[in-house]
Amino acid sequence: MELRRCLFCSGWQPFAPGLAIIAFRIAPWIANQAGICQARGEALASLGKDLSITIDSRSGAGAEDLPGPRGLPLIGNRHQVRFDRLHLDLEDWAGQYGPLYQIRFGPHRVAVLSDRAEIHRLLADRPDGFRRPHYLEAAASEMRLKGVFAAEGDDWRRQRRIVVDALNRARIEDFFPGIATTVGRLQRRWERAADAGDLVDLCRDLMRFTVDVATQLAFGIDINTLETPGPTIQRHLAKVFPVLHRRLNSPYPYWRFIRLPADRRLDRALDALELEFAAMVKTVRDRLEREPGRRRSPRDFLEAIITEMEAEGSRVTNEEIFANVGNLLLAGEDTTANTIAWTVHLLAGSPDWLDRCRHEIDALTASNAPGMVDFEQTKRMPVIDAVSSESMRLKPVAPLHMLEPLNDTWILGRRIPEGTTIFMLLRHLATRDEHFMNGDRFDPERWLVKPEERRGPHDHRAFVPFGAGPRFCPGRNLAMLEIRAVLAMLCANFDVLPVDRASVREQLAFTMFPTNLFVRLGRRKRT
Ligand code: HEM
Repeated sequence: MELRRCLFCSGWQPFAPGLAIIAFRIAPWIANQAGICQARGEALASLGKDLSITIDSRSGAGAEDLPGPRGLPLIGNRHQVRFDRLHLDLEDWAGQYGPLYQIRFGPHRVAVLSDRAEIHRLLADRPDGFRRPHYLEAAASEMRLKGVFAAEGDDWRRQRRIVVDALNRARIEDFFPGIATTVGRLQRRWERAADAGDLVDLCRDLMRFTVDVATQLAFGIDINTLETPGPTIQRHLAKVFPVLHRRLNSPYPYWRFIRLPADRRLDRALDALELEFAAMVKTVRDRLEREPGRRRSPRDFLEAIITEMEAEGSRVTNEEIFANVGNLLLAGEDTTANTIAWTVHLLAGSPDWLDRCRHEIDALTASNAPGMVDFEQTKRMPVIDAVSSESMRLKPVAPLHMLEPLNDTWILGRRIPEGTTIFMLLRHLATRDEHFMNGDRFDPERWLVKPEERRGPHDHRAFVPFGAGPRFCPGRNLAMLEIRAVLAMLCANFDVLPVDRASVREQLAFTMFPTNLFVRLGRRKRT
């Protein structure tokens, strides 16, 4: 029997056309009969139900499907996209079909939106009008990760309060010395690589940095993976997003029937993470026993959630603690590390801007150790901020956002049925010339010129790298602090020599990261 790439899981599978068609037709029926498929069950059951997205009949325009690329009868547009570059395919189609179009993955219709005002309206109308896709909640639950990111309604409100409190600005200021220590470790790691002439895998090193910072802030524990050979926690975390991304985009929940090697690896990684997190929880519980006064004013996320769990009538469970520890590490690790990595990549291709960043940092830190900024100085880095904003505009780690309406709704005059997945193209929004002049160009200057001196569009509301509305990223301040501190250290101390810059590609695995991003660092010579 011949082997072919599976349309759903992208793995190599035995292929027999007749069998494939029969399986495709009966899989929804089996899933529903077995009652196994909760996440996609309703969608599967609705194969016969009309999911069409129609023009609002109140507008008198009549019922008609949205525009979109033509697909094939059973698989829709599935064969035309690659999930590891889904955002690029959707952005191409947006250029062709406009601000609202539809595609089909198997039986599922998806609406794809890139209208600025509508995107803000939908993001603001959460959690009551819109939610994250229901299958995200189910997939996160199955991965033991249904924390604040995947929770909805009252569960989300309760968890959001604790997370926001743990990440608020005042705590981050208190915590700044911890970030500075971790930046110092990263600097020493890169100095060793520079002296040895080693290639630096930027994403890998930066993920060690961001996990170390997130664990200190959120759990009060310094795991110091930057100075640990072969740390395990990142290896386990790295298994989560690719599988989550694949499951979210699979029209059928194959993993409930067949465990592919990647699913089995994920199970093992989750077991190992559970052990690591259990050890952290124990450390924090012991700390609270020794210092009960901390319960009155918890200093990190774990202290806060454990204190809440101990309160009478609490609804916090051990599973919820595990899930939120995982959410904070995952949300804080890839996003910030990849944002810094993309920024370094863009700077490496733009020596003038690297020089301007250097001048800013040299002037700012004239009396400090080179590039080591203090908390107050991080507020006075307009050039570095302009460069990182421009990097998040062109290379956002979340170029694509997913929602679904809790009731039938109208978007741009079209009726979108309850439960339809809506992809929002956030990068497409931020790179269109109508929102930002020469939208595709790396031009940090656009963030520095005075509004009255601008010669073209500059629409802040089209720039939403951290989302918007009530579910806006609560880690934004922490992330910006990390970005500033690392870029200051890097620009002040190193020359960045890209290695095969042309082969760096965007890859989507829940977040969008650069592949093949290796550099050589040289110690900067001061004149
Ligand atoms: C450059 C770095 C980062 C970027 C670009 C980023 C981006 C985002 C985006 C786009 C969302 C979805 C927002 C929405 O639905 O409107 C989000 C949510 C979230 N982020 Fe971040 N993030 C970053 C860093 C962090 C960090 C450092 C943490 C914490 C350690 C964090 C924690 C979270 C959490 C907990 C949520 C879920 C919020 C909710 O559902 O209520 N993020 N982030």
